[in-house]
Amino acid sequence: MHGDFAYLIGRTGSGKSSLLKTLYGDLKLIYGEGSIANFNLKTLKEKEIPYLRRKIGIVFQDFQLLEDRSVTENLLFVMKATDWTDKKKMKQRLSEVLDLVRMGTKGHKKPHQLSGGEQQRVAIARALINNPEIILADEPTGNLDPETSEEIIQLLQSITSKKTVLMASHDKYLMDKYPQRTIICERNNVFEK
Ligand SMILES: Nc1ncnc2c1ncn2[C@@H]1O[C@H](COP(=O)(O)OP(=O)(O)OP(=O)(O)O)[C@@H](O)[C@H]1O
Ligand SMILES: [Mg+2]
Repeated sequence: MHGDFAYLIGRTGSGKSSLLKTLYGDLKLIYGEGSIANFNLKTLKEKEIPYLRRKIGIVFQDFQLLEDRSVTENLLFVMKATDWTDKKKMKQRLSEVLDLVRMGTKGHKKPHQLSGGEQQRVAIARALINNPEIILADEPTGNLDPETSEEIIQLLQSITSKKTVLMASHDKYLMDKYPQRTIICERNNVFEK
């Protein structure tokens, strides 16, 4: 998959989150073969995981922002953890990604001062910081109202020209309205619809 967008669907417990976790190195691949961003998941070593995570941006249903820090600090936290040092370049990248998700004026806010949709946009900015090849999103609209969910899907689909996005979802309305390639998780198998 390259420059592609796909939904990952399947019943509760069918393994969507587990598949995504395997793809970002949080679960070991035990059966079968798999690779992502030139990393072989079967032979992936613990010490390679931070490098894999730089090629992948992850977005969660519950945003997972650090509550005691501002938007800017949340993003700087990731940058520092991924070896950014040049203050000027950090500032520039920060404003690039915040502008991209239309949060350019809200860098000083704390997560609790933002709506769910705004928090998710920040989480998407955070996922984009290191310009990853792939975005993995686990039910990113699961906690949002229908209108805000549409904004998020539009945002995720607008970045697809340069990236690959795999998004787990249960939101039939959204998937019908924004049809895309669909991958199904069922009884320990994955196949394309
Ligand atoms: N940490 C874990 N340890 C053991 N089993 C787990 C763990 N996490 C999930 N499972 C099991 O793995 C299966 C797949 O779970 P997973 O969370 O991947 O499903 P899902 O498709 O994401 O479901 P949902 O749509 O509810 O998010 C389930 O049977 C679940 O109980
Ligand atoms: Mg899940």
